[in-house]
Amino acid sequence: MSQETVQRPEGDRATELVTQLLVGGLQNPYPTYAALRELGDGVHWSDLLNGYIVTRYEDVRRIAGDHETFSSDTFWGSAPSAHNPEDAEHLRFIDIASRLFMFADPPTHTRIRSTFRHAFTPTAVASWEDLVSRVTQELLERYPTGEELDIMPGFAADVPVAVIAAILGVPAEVAPKFREWSYAYASTFDPVVQGEARDAAITTSLELFDYLGTLLAERRAEPQDDLISELIRTETIDGDPLGAVELVAQVALLLVAGNETTTTLIGSGLSLLFDNPEAFEAIRADRSLLPAAIEEMLRIDPPLHFVIRVTTKDTVIGDHEMPAGTVLWPSPAAANRDPRRFEAPDRFLIDRTDNKHLAFLHGIHFCVGAPLGRLEGRVVFNHILDTFPDLRPGKLPATRRTSNIVARGWETRPVVL
Ligand code: HEM
Repeated sequence: MSQETVQRPEGDRATELVTQLLVGGLQNPYPTYAALRELGDGVHWSDLLNGYIVTRYEDVRRIAGDHETFSSDTFWGSAPSAHNPEDAEHLRFIDIASRLFMFADPPTHTRIRSTFRHAFTPTAVASWEDLVSRVTQELLERYPTGEELDIMPGFAADVPVAVIAAILGVPAEVAPKFREWSYAYASTFDPVVQGEARDAAITTSLELFDYLGTLLAERRAEPQDDLISELIRTETIDGDPLGAVELVAQVALLLVAGNETTTTLIGSGLSLLFDNPEAFEAIRADRSLLPAAIEEMLRIDPPLHFVIRVTTKDTVIGDHEMPAGTVLWPSPAAANRDPRRFEAPDRFLIDRTDNKHLAFLHGIHFCVGAPLGRLEGRVVFNHILDTFPDLRPGKLPATRRTSNIVARGWETRPVVL
């Protein structure tokens, strides 16, 4: 097959829907996902993404589960184009940022991911519960009961950064700086951040990398009881430790992968509770319902709407023949509402028993931090309901979603505490 044999464009209706989705449609993309999923084979070309959007559950799961045909080695495809590609800072940034195991295939992926095998075990994650509780409580205590405020900055956005900083072993006095670095690094993954804004984000990210390099050297000399020391200590399955730069890259990855996603879960979870008063009342009365409710939050409105893959060989998805080298954008968000897989997919049902959603994906790249994300969700919702039993939606500022196509977050989520 050659690139020319692919049939595109997809037809007027599909083109119209994809455009609608990408240009401002992310405020509520679900009706458009539904239309795209039911149109033809649910696989649709996007000029803007230079690849195919994949919307049906079985296809998204198959792509995630077959890393030999669908490669994650996509850093160069997904990284925003450089403002000044020859710039020394930019090159140093790329040298580190391109080593994330999220953008690697086996054997590199297997080797690097194996150093996390002790890090996110059920025992390790359970041991973080007190820490997550303390961080959450400290942030909530600053708010007086009855106040109307936007819960995103200062709380939803701060919990995950403060938690991962403490778990990693970043000293408390560095934590505020850490937050700033973390946001800057995350913004380098947003294709909208270009030009001078991108240069500034790269400069700040390099400060983060340098700081992590120093911290890693300190822990190497004097190990502590923290995640950084654990990652230094754990050999890869090949029997060698990760190199210094390799480690900096993976620790920085924990920040970008875990922060905005968990922040979004908090914003979406609150909104879903407000929109579903019966479920909200049931959870208020019986907190043992929370874990299943969090799974349903992750299914019905997952933080990551798209992942990216590239085909390594000629293959077929739906009715589409895909030559090697085709870029694909499988959508966990569209797949999670596929009526072929979930009954009443648009309803928020906290007693759903068969809930194998794809919010954390599937296969070898299944989210390494999923147990931590779930723990943070449970602890945060428990504390909010304990501290502010009359919690209700606020009006100002207007509730707004971000327009990032990949990570669909929250700009604002007003509440009355
Ligand atoms: C609700 C919160 C979260 C959601 C919805 C989420 C979602 C995801 C998804 C969909 C992937 C697969 C990406 C791909 O293959 O292209 C992923 C991978 C990853 N996540 Fe998460 N994540 C969350 C929280 C976290 C946390 C708290 C951490 C760590 C502190 C984390 C660390 C990672 C890492 C390191 C990977 C790469 C795994 C690999 O490639 O093998 N995530 N996550």
